[in-house]
Amino acid sequence: TMFAGQPLDPSFPIVHSVSNVIAAVVFGHRFTIENKNFHQVIENNDYIVKFGSSVSEMLYDIFPWLMNHLPGPHQKVFYCHEFLRSFARNEIRNHRENGPPDELQDFIDFYLAQIDKSKDDPTSTFDEDNMVQAIFDLFLAGTETTTTTLRWTVLDMVAHPDVQEKVQKELDAVLGPSQLICYEDRKKLPYTNAVIHEIQRYNSVVAVGVPRECIRGTVLQGFPIEKGTIIIPNLTSALLDPEQWETPRQFNPNHFLDKDGNFVNKDAFLPFSAGHRMCLGELLARTELFLFFSNLMRAFTFKLPEGVKEINTEAITWITLQPHPYKICAVPR
Ligand code: HEM
Repeated sequence: TMFAGQPLDPSFPIVHSVSNVIAAVVFGHRFTIENKNFHQVIENNDYIVKFGSSVSEMLYDIFPWLMNHLPGPHQKVFYCHEFLRSFARNEIRNHRENGPPDELQDFIDFYLAQIDKSKDDPTSTFDEDNMVQAIFDLFLAGTETTTTTLRWTVLDMVAHPDVQEKVQKELDAVLGPSQLICYEDRKKLPYTNAVIHEIQRYNSVVAVGVPRECIRGTVLQGFPIEKGTIIIPNLTSALLDPEQWETPRQFNPNHFLDKDGNFVNKDAFLPFSAGHRMCLGELLARTELFLFFSNLMRAFTFKLPEGVKEINTEAITWITLQPHPYKICAVPR
């Protein structure tokens, strides 16, 4: 309400909310918007992600010895890692001091219980260092991706006011004005659900998946693949495949609707990749996207600021495909 109707860049409120979801899952509590320490968690996490696709990173990978002696962003990135690790260690310490709760609630509770259970097993990998690394991975994998998708979501609604209006009409018709929305409700909201899928397809936020190594030789669509081959899946090639989508390069929620307006999923919808190592957070991410989107659409209409005629919808290529920074107005409905 502080910004009601005024031009704003929604990036910070979005990344703050999304990071708080991971915090709730991992630490069992959230941080207020004023908490400076949590701001630093967000900033350091962001720095690591941006560093991950920079020229300095490439130079560091090729000449680590040389780069260690030179100043530059690679020096700061070590500090960022250490900050996030010590933040996690601090939360673990608090959990240990409070002792195990009657009912295990968050990731740290479960991990501590697992360390305890496997303490007589010499082959166990459950220890505090691995827990810190796992927490770090959850923050890194879970915030940037979801945040970027939501930043595109707002931009796409500004660029397609007709779609935005249809979503709002559907929400108004199906849900009560103060009804708590839950993930299950997507089944009653085929258009809204189709729009979220189209946002993920069209913007292809994770353009290429994580490199994976083949553990044995195989043949894929007639191509022999040797053991040890590194595979980098090109997810965009599926999400924009002209043989799979009617209008691959156009924003078109009908990609996920049949002629009667029912939601239909598509095999080529692979924003979370596929196979054994596909996104571990898919369900959490889908739940977040649905709940954030439907609640935002019910409360606000997103518009261009007065006098602004156009908005840049080109992507910047980092580890993820990012929108350019923008300002919009969130007009309360
Ligand atoms: C819109 C949001 C998201 C997108 C588009 C996305 C996409 C992806 C993709 C493409 C991969 C690589 C899969 C592969 O190599 O085959 C991945 C891996 C992963 N994601 Fe997500 N992700 C999202 C949200 C999340 C969230 C919220 C979490 C945290 C709970 C998360 C945790 C992970 C983890 C831990 C991995 C590594 C899995 C492994 O190595 O087995 N992701 N994600």
